[in-house]
Amino acid sequence: MRVLGIETSCDETGVALFDTERGLLADALYSQIAMHAEYGGVVPELASRDHTRRLLPLIQQVLDEAGLARQDLDAIAYTAGPGLVGALMVGAATAHGMARALNIPVLGVHHMEGHLLAPMLEEDRPAFPFAALLVSGGHTQLVEVRGLGDYSLLGESVDDAAGEAFDKAAKMLGLAYPGGPQVARLAERGDPGRLRFPRPMTDRPGLDFSFSGLKTHTLTAIRRLEAAGELDEQARADVARAFEEAVVDTLVIKCRRALDQTGLKRLVVAGGVSANTRLRERLERECEKRDARAFYPRGRFCTDNGAMIAYVGAQRLLAGEHDEPGAMQAVPRWPMDSLNKP
Ligand code: KG4
Ligand code: ZN
Repeated sequence: MRVLGIETSCDETGVALFDTERGLLADALYSQIAMHAEYGGVVPELASRDHTRRLLPLIQQVLDEAGLARQDLDAIAYTAGPGLVGALMVGAATAHGMARALNIPVLGVHHMEGHLLAPMLEEDRPAFPFAALLVSGGHTQLVEVRGLGDYSLLGESVDDAAGEAFDKAAKMLGLAYPGGPQVARLAERGDPGRLRFPRPMTDRPGLDFSFSGLKTHTLTAIRRLEAAGELDEQARADVARAFEEAVVDTLVIKCRRALDQTGLKRLVVAGGVSANTRLRERLERECEKRDARAFYPRGRFCTDNGAMIAYVGAQRLLAGEHDEPGAMQAVPRWPMDSLNKP
């Protein structure tokens, strides 16, 4: 079954072709980051308009790359949520329109289920069951994954997501949006011993996260250095380092707990923040210690992409799921534990 996957939930237009027999045939991405950077964050209306501009050319591009015509498609999968409603509607309407014209099934899929199963696109992929740390700009969750659609939420952020915290810390440090990669780069030059930030919610049992206190702590540290006339380039790097260490340490502590609590030996790490090198190194070491293994999507499938949507869509379409004709879905908020086994 050849499935076209469409991702338009936020600020990247992602399109891919997944064949259930041959694997990934092609994928393409257009990132709107440069357009939103000017405003310091995603402007929803601009995002929707840009998806409208980019989506059809990208679909043509992946078809050309795979040497296929629209008529060769067997089904279409699109991100139905969670995300920005206007942005989601661009993908949903295009998917439903094309599916109607081609007379093929179409299915709305959950964006976070896409991230969760993105490592399945790799040759070296995890078998079920596994624990998963989902760390993106909008979500921080620990999930027990027993199979497709068989998920239990073990813990999640009670306030800011890890990626959001990175983006806010970046803003405070005068770095451009999206801040995660920039904070990580600045942190490399930071002195790990100079400042120590708190590891929120690690002093009590449980697998929930909280990152908003860390944000306040970062701001206070920057203001203090500024007042003392010490906020030079090195001090900024030291703040970035202390911040990154605190987030990474917190995530690692909770992953360790999740593995202990569930007895699972495989850990999937996905979502934008899973691109963070220090996080990967620390989790790698942690897994080695307990005879467990960590799995990640390849670099470009850590952040938003069409391939993960095509993959999840294909699995669910194969199991017989599809939207009713014309019933396009765009769901801004959609809890992942409401997903079903197909
Ligand atoms: O999954 P994603 O592309 O979009 C959402 O669904 O939210 O994640 C984007 C988030 C942003 O907050 C970005 O700052 C963060 O992932 N991010 C990183 C790194 N690369 C991306 N955070 C820390 N270190 C990185 N290397
Ligand atoms: Zn995402």
